[in-house]
Amino acid sequence: MSETTTGSILVLNGPNLNLLGIREPQTYGRETLADVEALCRTAAAKAGYEVEFLQSNHEGVLIDAIHAARTTMVGIVINPGAFTHTSVALADAVSGVQLPVIEVHISNVHQREAFRHHSYISAVAASVIVGAGTNGYVLGVEQLIHLVGR
Ligand code: DQA
Repeated sequence: MSETTTGSILVLNGPNLNLLGIREPQTYGRETLADVEALCRTAAAKAGYEVEFLQSNHEGVLIDAIHAARTTMVGIVINPGAFTHTSVALADAVSGVQLPVIEVHISNVHQREAFRHHSYISAVAASVIVGAGTNGYVLGVEQLIHLVGR
């Protein structure tokens, strides 16, 4: 950590979000994950934070990243993708590390299929942002910084 850096924020993206910009643009828009990464870095830098940005299609990789964040990150912004609706293990990882976690969904999951209405992560997240498009990540980073104090 440099003198000018307050800490690091982990921004995690789950399965299929590597296809952002290509995948169902009517639902997820045309911005790519690289665009999202740039948005997050800019939002964090305004308050002196750095961002570690990771996407994985594998549940265990996401869980390992959450565990590793325990001692290195001030908190986590996560879009767990479809694991939102299926993964008790991811929710257990979030509650296990006791870091503030902001859950983000690009689409408004509550306007979509019933299976997307339940999230295992929401019960253990500090805040949940849905339906704000990719700006949800910016809001997520800002909310995390608000929670950790700056
Ligand atoms: C999503 C919503 C999930 O239901 C879906 O499986 C995704 C993306 C969103 O950002 O809107 O992969 O998390």
